[in-house]
Amino acid sequence: MNIKKVCVLGGSGFVGTHVVNKLEMAGYSVRVLTRKREHAKNIFVLPSVEVIEADIFDPSALSRYFSGMDAVINLVGILHEKKVAKGGKSMAGHGDFHEVHVELPRKIVQACATSGVRRLLHMSALNAGPNGPSKYLRSKGLGESLVREAGVQNREHEPVHGSGLAVTVFRPSVIFGREDSFINLFAGLLKIVPVLPLANPDAKFQPVFVGDVAQAFVASLNNQAAFGRVYDLCGPSVYTLRELVDLVSRMTGRNRQIINLCPQLSYLMALMMEWMPGPKLMTRDNYDSMQVDAVCDCEFPKIFDIKPSTLESVVPDYLSPAHHYHGFRSAAGR
Ligand SMILES: NC(=O)c1ccc[n+]([C@@H]2O[C@H](COP(=O)([O-])OP(=O)(O)OC[C@H]3O[C@@H](n4cnc5c(N)ncnc54)[C@H](OP(=O)(O)O)[C@@H]3O)[C@@H](O)[C@H]2O)c1
Repeated sequence: MNIKKVCVLGGSGFVGTHVVNKLEMAGYSVRVLTRKREHAKNIFVLPSVEVIEADIFDPSALSRYFSGMDAVINLVGILHEKKVAKGGKSMAGHGDFHEVHVELPRKIVQACATSGVRRLLHMSALNAGPNGPSKYLRSKGLGESLVREAGVQNREHEPVHGSGLAVTVFRPSVIFGREDSFINLFAGLLKIVPVLPLANPDAKFQPVFVGDVAQAFVASLNNQAAFGRVYDLCGPSVYTLRELVDLVSRMTGRNRQIINLCPQLSYLMALMMEWMPGPKLMTRDNYDSMQVDAVCDCEFPKIFDIKPSTLESVVPDYLSPAHHYHGFRSAAGR
């Protein structure tokens, strides 16, 4: 298999922008499917990247746009469900976990078959599984299983060289990087509140750098040793949520009082935030996800020859005043 043309779903997002940039730099020709072209403004200036506005939930659109491609990368995912008004299934209206994390991968696998695509990289999440503690993790787990099964079936009948689908699945812990919504969330909160009540302070994470995740995707594309494999991706260190927030507090120089909440108050806090108007900072489902530690029991996969970056070596760069300039630019739509 010699992969040159790659179709990316979710290529406009935080991880997607990095994956698309790295694919482009590595000489791939990239097609990004997006719900709205303006979501992809960071990547459509790249010369080998074609951005197409499409309804990715429409199987015929998927087959049409996969046609002629050598590989598909699925990065589409949501952390919070969106309530959509009855009958309001617009292109942007697919807002529930099952549709996005299970039905979409199913349609992608089918469209790969009908359009002759034989390579699929799929983004799952650490701890995703049918018995996961949250709807997010259970739906991610179901989607992952059906993608793996499609790959396994094909491996049995047509080992890598036939017409089967060669699948690689990635399961990262929380991902950090300049545009992340995790470290930046706490940096933002510490800026505006004098006292920060912290839900789930003992939850454990092993954050992984977005550049390393994107590199693993690109490195696996043409590597037969990665076909049919599932990779957990974590950074070098484990932190409790409290340790992470303390770190952000030190890096931003915001000397705020942080109060650890007990499990009952943490749940109440999640409930309150879920019902608050505006963008969701936390939901009860996020609370449930945090009931299991997002840590790896093995090192970053050696196959990719990547030494994972530490949080301490990357985060100060984007929490510094230069980052604020970047923030002003995006707020101004530039
Ligand atoms: N960030 C993390 O810490 C983390 C950790 C573990 C796993 N993951 C997984 O990694 C993947 C990428 O995450 P990310 O942080 O890059 O997310 P993101 O920035 O929100 O990007 C996700 C992309 O998916 C598309 N999308 C979002 N909601 C959609 C919907 N309802 N219907 C159709 N398309 C939708 C969007 O593309 P358009 O707007 O262009 O259509 C968006 O660019 C996800 O599968 C996520 O579950 C992320």
